[in-house]
Amino acid sequence: MNIIPAQTKEEMARFAADIFADQISSKPDSVLGLATGETPRELYKELIAKHEAGELDFSNISTFNLDEYVGLNADHDQSYNYYMHDALFDHVNLRDEHCHVPDGTATDLETECRDYDERIKQYGGIDLQLLGIGVNGHIAFNEPDEEFPKGTHAVDLTPSTIEVNSQYFATPEEMPTSALTMGIGSIFNADRIVLIASGPTKTEILHDAFFGPITPKVPASILQIHPDVTLIADEEALAKIRAKGLI
Ligand code: F6R
Repeated sequence: MNIIPAQTKEEMARFAADIFADQISSKPDSVLGLATGETPRELYKELIAKHEAGELDFSNISTFNLDEYVGLNADHDQSYNYYMHDALFDHVNLRDEHCHVPDGTATDLETECRDYDERIKQYGGIDLQLLGIGVNGHIAFNEPDEEFPKGTHAVDLTPSTIEVNSQYFATPEEMPTSALTMGIGSIFNADRIVLIASGPTKTEILHDAFFGPITPKVPASILQIHPDVTLIADEEALAKIRAKGLI
């Protein structure tokens, strides 16, 4: 595992954007795995700026998002589909048919999940996967559990995740309590993984995920055994790892 410390969350975003830009330039038909949430917003702004400066061409890039709430239409402003259009898709020359987000409104969620994994395979697998991390150690919506789930699946969100994410809904009751998420297996199949984290709320979990035992109770801990993981985090998020002299 490679750890890249950043002074600020803006610097974290720039470092991550450089990795994505290199990937896109060196393989213009790359398949990217994308995340939502607060942490990647700045990174997407950096990618848009590079595109506007004529440095990045997304016309042959394909994307697969990690997750989506069950029951939210693509035009709901808290759906991850909406987020991606707002944060990236509508501002670069990605082709619509190349952008994939699980459909949380599908009538048959099991089939939707199976098809999603199948589609990733048909595209040749993910070259570079972006991840954030939840305060409970989730990656995508793989919540702490008794085992590591493999493929894309429907999941009941934990009270911790509902508490953190419900702040973005007009009323907390509007927040869906379940989601579709790529599984740990689907994420693990990516050739390269970049996890970004910032701020003091992530310091405990970053330490536990990257230096604690590998356990499905901390889903991100599985990344310790992936052959190509880069953690990019600001000093606030790295505080515990640094205090323990681990970097
Ligand atoms: C979102 C996702 C989640 C977030 C995580 C951190 O697609 O996969 O695992 O990465 O909840 O969210 P933020 O960045 O809002 O702290």
